[in-house]
Amino acid sequence: MGKAGWMEPGRNTVGVVLVVVLVLAYFLVISNMELSRDSQFYPPPYRQISTPAPVASVWEDPGPYHVAYPRDYRFLLEDTAVCKDPSPFVLLVVPVAPADVAARNLIRSSWGRQAEVRGRLVRSLFLVGVDSSLGAHTVQLKLQQESQQYHDLVQSNFIDSYRNLTIKTMVMLEWLAAHCSSSATYVVKVDSDMFLHVPNLVDLLLQPDTPKNNYMSGLVWWHSPVLRNPWDKFYMPREVIAEEEYPPYPLGMTYIMSLDLPHKILSVSREIKPIFIEDAYLGMCLKRLQISPTNPPAQDMFLVNQPHPLSPCALSRVVATTTTGAQLMMNYWRRSQQPETRC
Ligand SMILES: *[C@@H]1O[C@H](CO)[C@@H](O)[C@H](O)[C@H]1NC(C)=O
Repeated sequence: MGKAGWMEPGRNTVGVVLVVVLVLAYFLVISNMELSRDSQFYPPPYRQISTPAPVASVWEDPGPYHVAYPRDYRFLLEDTAVCKDPSPFVLLVVPVAPADVAARNLIRSSWGRQAEVRGRLVRSLFLVGVDSSLGAHTVQLKLQQESQQYHDLVQSNFIDSYRNLTIKTMVMLEWLAAHCSSSATYVVKVDSDMFLHVPNLVDLLLQPDTPKNNYMSGLVWWHSPVLRNPWDKFYMPREVIAEEEYPPYPLGMTYIMSLDLPHKILSVSREIKPIFIEDAYLGMCLKRLQISPTNPPAQDMFLVNQPHPLSPCALSRVVATTTTGAQLMMNYWRRSQQPETRC
């Protein structure tokens, strides 16, 4: 009796729970149907691109701190002879937003223009993903025209966004490993808002003690803390990165790499899930390769958030600096073309 009396309410509870679960399941199914119906009426913007630009087939949600890098992105545009004959000494790669024609033209008409510096061949390339705005179709058509005109664009079929910068860097490495590792010696990744002093860059690379292999340099951050404030743009929870510091890496605004590295970094990156912080991720890959980044010979070669305008002396020593806009960049470029101030 005692036992049966104890069982009765249990059976009732099971019944109630079953009903609740069934009702919940029913609503879940209905609301999902609503969702998928809605998304037929409002397709994600990238579906509007008429050019075949399918997003990588196996899509897995990378969550908020990682990026989707299934290694099967395709190149949509790569109509360029860069790294074919003749091979450059250094290749400048500029990641830029697909729609930012102005930034590309500014670079084409300033520091990206020099073809031969100190007797060495310098080439530049722009790297873009796929635009996902409402105007994506127009952006894509313009990119195609631009590519036919300048032959300096490489486009991959991932969605170009700030949170996807690591994907951009990884596809850059793929492209370099496939096309440049046996021809060019160095690659420099430069953000489109930077001023790059190409003669000073070439001088640095030509110095006898600049390594030709396993070399990565720039403004090296040796003790970059992993930020734990959830409101920070670069917040990273302990579950993702347990260490208190990232391994050393050069800041993403401008870094130099010898061209044996793209292939090496790609191979170890298979073992390290890519985080959205592009430069710190490269640091993690370098650490796995047991390669340390190299400080530039002088600390004033790579400047970040310096008071502007730079003095003639400071400008004559700089390799790369942040700028405040197009005008200042053009100003620095013109000044860098004039007879040099030594100090
Ligand atoms: C990053 O790119 C992938 C592949 O194109 C895309 O599925 C994802 O939505 C993009 N993420 C962001 C934040 O744009």
